[in-house]
Amino acid sequence: MKIIKVKNYEEMSKRAAFIIASQVSIKEDSVLGLATGSTPIGTYKQIINIYNDKLIDFKNITTYNLDEYYDLSEENEQSYRCFMNQNLFNHINIDKKNTFVPNGKAENPEKECKRYDSLVEKSGNIDLQILGIGSNAHIGFNEPDDKFAKGTHLVDLKQETIDANARFFKSKEEVPKKAISMGMKNIMAAKKVILLASGENKAQAIKSTIEGPINPLVPASILQLHPDVTFILDEEAASRLDK
Ligand code: PGA
Repeated sequence: MKIIKVKNYEEMSKRAAFIIASQVSIKEDSVLGLATGSTPIGTYKQIINIYNDKLIDFKNITTYNLDEYYDLSEENEQSYRCFMNQNLFNHINIDKKNTFVPNGKAENPEKECKRYDSLVEKSGNIDLQILGIGSNAHIGFNEPDDKFAKGTHLVDLKQETIDANARFFKSKEEVPKKAISMGMKNIMAAKKVILLASGENKAQAIKSTIEGPINPLVPASILQLHPDVTFILDEEAASRLDK
């Protein structure tokens, strides 16, 4: 496990973007695992800058997003498909046919989960997975539970997650209560993982993830078992670590 401590959100975003840019330039057909939320927005902005400087090419890149709200169509502004188009895909030369997000409108979610798992596996698994973390230490939408979920699955979102995500919706009532999320098997199968965290509200989750026991009640703690994981933390997110 590698821990990179940086001053603030901007530095976190730059460090993460450099790691992604390096992956894309070393392997031009890389498979990237992508995350949504406020945390990676700055990273995606930096990636767009690097792309505009003609230093990286996304023509042959494939991406898989971690999750999508259940029962939200991809046209809905709050869908993660929309988020990815707006914050990254519309600004780089990626072929949208090679960008995958779970179908939040699938009639049969179980079938959709299996389909998504087999797509990821057929791509040879993810080369580089980008993760944020919830203040309850969820990664993707793997919420605290009595076991680690394996593959892609339908999740009942915890109230704290619904409350945290309400800021993106007109009212709390509009926040979906379920999501389709990759599981820990998908995330742990990624060859390299980077987890980004910024802000005091992530400090306890980061401490429990890195220093606590491996426990499904702290979903991100499973990353202690990953052979190539890098945490990029700003000062506030790292503030409760022992060292
Ligand atoms: P945030 O969400 O980046 O909006 O803080 C992270 C997460 O819930 O995984």
